[in-house]
Formats: sequence, structure tokens, C-alpha cells
Amino acid sequence: MYEKFYGLKERAFNLTPDPTFLFLNNRSREALDHILYGIERREGFALIVGDIGTGKTTLCWTLLERLEKKRVRTALIQNPLLPEADILRSILQDLGARAEEVESDSPTDANDRMQAFNTEWLEGLTKKQLLDRLNRFLAARAQEDVFTVLIVDEAQNISITLLEQLRLLSNLETAKKKLLQIIFVGQLELEQKLKAPSMRQLNQRISVRFETRPFSKADTEKYIRHRLAKAGGGGKVRFRSGAFKAVWRYSKGCPRLINLICDRAFLAAYSERSLLITSRHIRKAARALEGKEYGVEVRSGWFRKAVPYLVPAFLLLVILFFVAYKGLANL
Ligand SMILES: Nc1ncnc2c1ncn2[C@@H]1O[C@H](COP(=O)(O)OP(=O)(O)O)[C@@H](O)[C@H]1O
Ligand SMILES: [Mg+2]
Repeated sequence: MYEKFYGLKERAFNLTPDPTFLFLNNRSREALDHILYGIERREGFALIVGDIGTGKTTLCWTLLERLEKKRVRTALIQNPLLPEADILRSILQDLGARAEEVESDSPTDANDRMQAFNTEWLEGLTKKQLLDRLNRFLAARAQEDVFTVLIVDEAQNISITLLEQLRLLSNLETAKKKLLQIIFVGQLELEQKLKAPSMRQLNQRISVRFETRPFSKADTEKYIRHRLAKAGGGGKVRFRSGAFKAVWRYSKGCPRLINLICDRAFLAAYSERSLLITSRHIRKAARALEGKEYGVEVRSGWFRKAVPYLVPAFLLLVILFFVAYKGLANL
């Protein structure tokens, strides 16, 4: 809506986890390198945890993109709450498993190969059959020296039985190599879940761990500039330095909140046809978002802390007034 006015090719602050907008500070760049390095060396599992909106899904998509450039087959589980058979089916589908590869008795003529991505053959298979197909698929890839990576987003929701099955799958190995690498991505409680005694074996195999955190004040400003530049709007629009500070104050550096606030602030500034974004626009945006599910807090700290005491303090005043009035009346 406002893109044209600000000379942007697209909305700079939308909520899709698009890797083309990826901003990495030193800490996350290093972590991403470590994860990719660990995966390539097939060292074991990787774990990414973090609060809501701190960029976990964006990292998933970035990892997928980077891995696909190499000789790697990838699959992404986005919703581990689905029935286990559906999850296994979608893994096989993502990996591009074809019927003829995993059904030893199925024909492999040219016609079949034409339908490489036809996934009808997956319908109606039981969980056990699907696990079996996945096994065969992994073994076939290992023969070709192609390796396979599974990324599980929202992994705090995955059932313990499926977790265990995936671990067992990944245990299959040829003489030298593990057949499946897994990257678990989830909210902070995932780390707790993995500490349960039944998860010990899996937890021990995690060789790289990373926590996504909100940005610092300085990185918040760099992040905003980065997204604007990526959206093609380096020149026309300007943020006052107070506006950057205000974004940090209301978002505490959480990228999801930064995006929500900046997108609204653009709308507010656009309604005045202003090419300058000021702290007033940011405040207006944060107010509009306050009280919604987004968790933007506009009221200042001291006021918020004082709220629970306001009613008792008022009652106390009334009582004191009443007592004083009675006392005076009795004189
Ligand atoms: N490092 C980053 N670079 C660019 N955009 C990011 C980054 N981290 C988060 N975002 C943006 O913030 C929003 C929320 O990120 P998301 O990956 O969905 O968080 P999470 O999965 O942790 O809830 C998305 O719009 C995404 O584009
Ligand atoms: Mg996410």
C-alpha cells in the first residue's frame, strides 16, 4: 500500500520467514557456520532454541536454502502436531522419494521415472511401512554418497515416540557414516524436554546448540536499515535516530515485534505523506498494537509497576479521609 510512495519494491517488514531478508549479527553468523559445518561433517544433531519471534523459522529456511545448494537432500517438518504417518509421508515427499526407489518389487521403466514426484504411492501406507520406505531411501542415498538432512521446526511439540523413531532412523549407518542428520528447532521449553531421562541418548548426540536472542539496541538499528535496503528503499525514506530508539524500547529487540511496529509506523507516516519516520510514528504504531496478542508494551515501566497498588492506595485514602472527618466532627 505504502510501498510505491517510499520507493520500495515490496513491504520491508512483513512477517514471512524469508531468507532473502536475513540479517545476521556476528553471533548468529558464527552459529550458522557451526551448524552447517557440523552437518557436513555428520557430527550429530543440532539444536536451535529461542523465544517466539526471535527468528528460528527464518533460520530453518536459510539452512534449507544453503543445504540445497550442496549435494544434500532435505526435508522440513513444520507442524509436528500432525499424525505421525502424515509427518513421515511429508518427509518422504520432501526428500523426493520415488516409488521405484523404495519398493523393491516395483517396475522402474521410463514411465515411472516421468512421475518422479507423483506421491500417490504414499497414500494408504501404514506408519510401519512408511518408516520402512524411509529406511530404504536413506540407505540408497548413502550408496550414492548423497546425504540427508531433516529439519524439525516447532520441535517442542513433537511426540516422544516420533522423536525416538527419528533417532533410531538416524542411527542407521553404513560402515562409516550416519544416514540422517537432524536439526531440531523449537521454543525454549524444548531444551527442558530433551533433559528428560528418556531423551538422554538423543540429547547426548546434539553436537551444536544455539539460542536465538533479541537484538541489541545497535543491532536493532542495523536490522531495520538492512531490511529497508533489501526491499529496495535505501534512499527515499529516513528514520530519525529517536525513531530507532523508540523501536528498541517497544520491541526489546525481538525481530517479530520490530517488523510489526515498523510496518505500522510506515502506515502512520504514509497517512501524513511523510518521508521521515519519527518516534511519534513509532509510538502511534506501538499504541495500535498494544493489547493485541503481540505483546507490545507501551505504558512506561513505573506506571505498569504501580497499577496493582492503585486501587488499595485509593481505598486507604478514602478510609483515612473518613477517619479524619469523623475525628474532626467529634471535636
Ligand atoms: N535474522 C533475521 N533476519 C531477518 N528477518 C528476521 C530475522 N529474524 C527474524 N526475522 C523476521 O522476524 C519475524 C519472525 O521471525 P520467525 O523466524 O518467524 O521467528 P520464530 O520462528 O522464532 O517465531 C519474521 O518476519 C522474520 O522475517
Ligand atoms: Mg517459528
